[in-house]
Amino acid sequence: ARIGRLAGRKIVITAGGTREALDPVRYLTNRSSGKMGFALAQAAVELGADVVLVTTNSRYKIYGVREVLVSSTRDMHAAVLHEFDNADVFIGAAAVSDYRPVEAAKDKIKKKSGENLTIKLMQNPDILAEVGRHKTMKQLVVGFAAETQNVLEYARKKLIQKNADMLVANDVSTTNSGFDSENNRVTILSRDEDPEIISLSPKIAIARSIMDKIAKKLA
Ligand code: C5P
Repeated sequence: ARIGRLAGRKIVITAGGTREALDPVRYLTNRSSGKMGFALAQAAVELGADVVLVTTNSRYKIYGVREVLVSSTRDMHAAVLHEFDNADVFIGAAAVSDYRPVEAAKDKIKKKSGENLTIKLMQNPDILAEVGRHKTMKQLVVGFAAETQNVLEYARKKLIQKNADMLVANDVSTTNSGFDSENNRVTILSRDEDPEIISLSPKIAIARSIMDKIAKKLA
């Protein structure tokens, strides 16, 4: 058995950018590396939690973390709903694609010279919002918001709209932080506390601050 402030707690974390297939060889994705999600998994293990990381890549191996490898948003959605049932906490750190191609072509799409190619996209499920709708009084839900403008205003809206308990906002318009960086600067919004600003710090340090807040809320 594990020891620590989160011993006996199950925490489900998403990480990475989802991939939406266009055909057997191509997909739509985004710039997320998954580093923030992996840092959160590390910080949760350090406090003794049972951690399930639903991730689109297995770039980093974290001792003690159960990894569920997924690709598309729909895969991630199914895995998260399955794992959340008996979990204490959900943290959505993945960069989830809001849209996917209406259908993935069965065969490789061929070039037709001189012609434009139009790809029709349809909306994906919003995993965080759905988990927020389903959570019980005892479960905590934490989201992330990567914004390039009006960061706090949008983040506050997201906290409410997605029925989250905590929302971690970061400004991805600045350099040295956010996507694929080792560092981040964030503001943590909670329903019942003043916002907490964390200046430029390694992602693992930010992850430990977030996990400390979660442990306090669960206690
Ligand atoms: O709505 P937006 O994408 O800006 O919100 C970001 C938060 O919502 C992140 O925590 C992300 O993991 C989550 N999200 C999700 N499913 C989606 C879109 C976003 O879980 N389809």
